[in-house]
Amino acid sequence: MRTPLVAGNWKMNKTVREALELVGGLNTQLAGIEGVDVVICPPFTALADVGRALAGSALELGAQDLHWESRGAYTGEISAPMLWDLGCTYVIVGHSERRRGPGESDEDVQRKVAASLANELIPILCVGESLEEREAGRTERIVQTQARVGTLNVEPDQAASLVVAYEPVWAIGTGQPATGAEANRIAGLLRQWLHEWFGDRAGQIRILYGGSVTPETFGEFAGQPEIDGALVGGASLDAAAFAAIVQAFAGRVG
Ligand code: PGA
Repeated sequence: MRTPLVAGNWKMNKTVREALELVGGLNTQLAGIEGVDVVICPPFTALADVGRALAGSALELGAQDLHWESRGAYTGEISAPMLWDLGCTYVIVGHSERRRGPGESDEDVQRKVAASLANELIPILCVGESLEEREAGRTERIVQTQARVGTLNVEPDQAASLVVAYEPVWAIGTGQPATGAEANRIAGLLRQWLHEWFGDRAGQIRILYGGSVTPETFGEFAGQPEIDGALVGGASLDAAAFAAIVQAFAGRVG
């Protein structure tokens, strides 16, 4: 049985002081909500302080990216052991804003997924097609390739802890989410492929939807049987909005 998961991707927002204010609001708003795992992913600069502020709370700490090497001459990069040291338990890998901006390849993503798992971090592997790819009828092919290459080095006994987020690029930050039915269809395909690659363990992999999930839109997704939660960007910066989304998924053990 899969426990629902809602993750907040704060992206490049919040100074340490602002981050701690938001955590204060979240601890209040989310108190008493059970049956759902909740992760917040502040920027690197706020991880240490937010980690300390989460001590004793049920909220978990995640990072937005990592490098696949543990240490070395990689200026500006952050490694999995460094994240683990700060109390991170999750890390977002292969977000479309990193695939497109810094130009991360599927092979980079593969190394990052493997490094996460090797260091006791749960990777939230993001996959999703662009608008051009969708219009060209390539959605399934793109999503399958990103998921396959990204997980190619995952050992079968590690597979159960994977999280995959289906995030169509055209839905991110646009206010135009996919329909619940379409997101559910792609999540179902992902589950089928994961089953081919990892066998029965795929039944434990959580598949999230991300892209303009807000208090106005979450209802589309919270009711879909193949969707185990959400990766939330903009709406995760507002404690009440994020809490409303978390509440929608709470107790929905699939
Ligand atoms: P959004 O971002 O909720 O602001 O669309 C989602 C994401 O990028 O993970």
